[in-house]
Amino acid sequence: MSDKAILEYQGKKYEFPVIEGTEGELGINIKTLRSEAGMITLDRGYKNTGSCESAITFLNGEEGILRYRGYAIEDLAEKADFLEVAYLLIFGELPNKQQLDKFYGDIKEESEVDEEMKKILDGFPKAAHPMGVLASLTSALTAFNPGSVDVESEEDMYKAIVKILGKFPVLVAWTQRKKSSLPLNYGDDSLGYVENLHKMMFEKPGKKYNVDKSVIEALDKLLILHADHEQNCSASTVRMVGSSHAGLFASISAGISALWGPLHGGANQAVIEMLEGIKADGGDTHKFMQKAKDKDDSFRLMGFGHRVYKNFDPRAKIIKKSADEVLNGLGVEDPVLDIAKGLEKEALEDDYFVKRKLYPNVDFYSGIIYRALGIPVEMFTVMFALGRLPGWIAQWREMRLKKEPIGRPRQIYVGENLREFKPVSER
Ligand code: CMC
Repeated sequence: MSDKAILEYQGKKYEFPVIEGTEGELGINIKTLRSEAGMITLDRGYKNTGSCESAITFLNGEEGILRYRGYAIEDLAEKADFLEVAYLLIFGELPNKQQLDKFYGDIKEESEVDEEMKKILDGFPKAAHPMGVLASLTSALTAFNPGSVDVESEEDMYKAIVKILGKFPVLVAWTQRKKSSLPLNYGDDSLGYVENLHKMMFEKPGKKYNVDKSVIEALDKLLILHADHEQNCSASTVRMVGSSHAGLFASISAGISALWGPLHGGANQAVIEMLEGIKADGGDTHKFMQKAKDKDDSFRLMGFGHRVYKNFDPRAKIIKKSADEVLNGLGVEDPVLDIAKGLEKEALEDDYFVKRKLYPNVDFYSGIIYRALGIPVEMFTVMFALGRLPGWIAQWREMRLKKEPIGRPRQIYVGENLREFKPVSER
């Protein structure tokens, strides 16, 4: 196989090196295209553009494979816990007991949030969407934790990482408590990372906090499944913002905003709202399938389709199984689960969906579990953000350590040519 790709344009040939990844993926390095041929590549939505070489997550959309640092998602979801996975994603290896204890100890040390932050939270109307509130609070962390991160210093990098991992669950809990008119609180150091988060979110004043172990296990698994997904919209945003050497908290805040949209993480909320809408309309899934296929109708089947997966999304498979287990285990009956299964069945047999390789994605069943776990619908995407936090950190860290240049795409200008300026009296 040649390790060069040749482009021929107007009788002239240009050669570009071909890069091969460890799983055999090929990419043409077009770095010299503009200087040699005077051209750029055009790829709307970056559908076919690699922005970096990364050693964090491997995804094969055709075969439905997802691995973090070489470990199969199925294995991690079954055998690991969220904090171990966070360590793995960020630092590249699974931690031993001592490393894990130190990591969690350091995170706990950093789990205080400046009381002044409460004033910022106070300024938001109660109706504000939690994702907007969370993005703002995360950005505000920068003001309370100033100082830039020296990427040459392991210690500086590590400190920034444990700080955000420590403070983020508090911000998530406060966002939720503000919405539920509950007093703001802090965590309990004696609990694990996920149980502590759950307690902070749901404990009620004067009531003893109690939670079924299966709820924490289900939540932990969901967070693992969301922890990274290579160069998606929010991870690319985190990298892009971080590439200007903006700090970690500012970069994560931008990632939260990117995740919020219904085509990305916001889909989990959109799915439940869609399923509820179908239920309220009488439960006719066929009618909504027709709407989804109608090009004159803006309705899309939320939780279906994926930019990269053109086969099943392996996360959706695990989540679907988990949804059945969690609902059965907790004795929760949710009629929208049947509607979801009905929609999936119809879609998998429908030419439109089959031809376009549209399968359920991670968001299709996750909302049903979140709801069974007592998480309010508007908090679904916040839970996704918490799960994705280690991935964003890992992507940011890798980008900074590799000293990636500032992200700055080019364009093909298609606007007006030079025009003469006319004063307002002559227009
Ligand atoms: N319902 C109906 N038609 C769809 C859907 C859908 N959910 N998704 C894609 N299509 C059609 C689309 O209309 C297009 O048809 P045609 O070729 O006739 O024009 C074709 O399938 C390809 O779609 P696309 O929009 O060009 O694909 P994309 O890679 O740009 O978009 C997507 C991927 C995930 C944004 C899209 O599938 C979608 O909008 N899905 C619903 C939202 C959703 O579930 N998002 C969560 C994604 S997974 C989690 C995450 O990223 O956070």
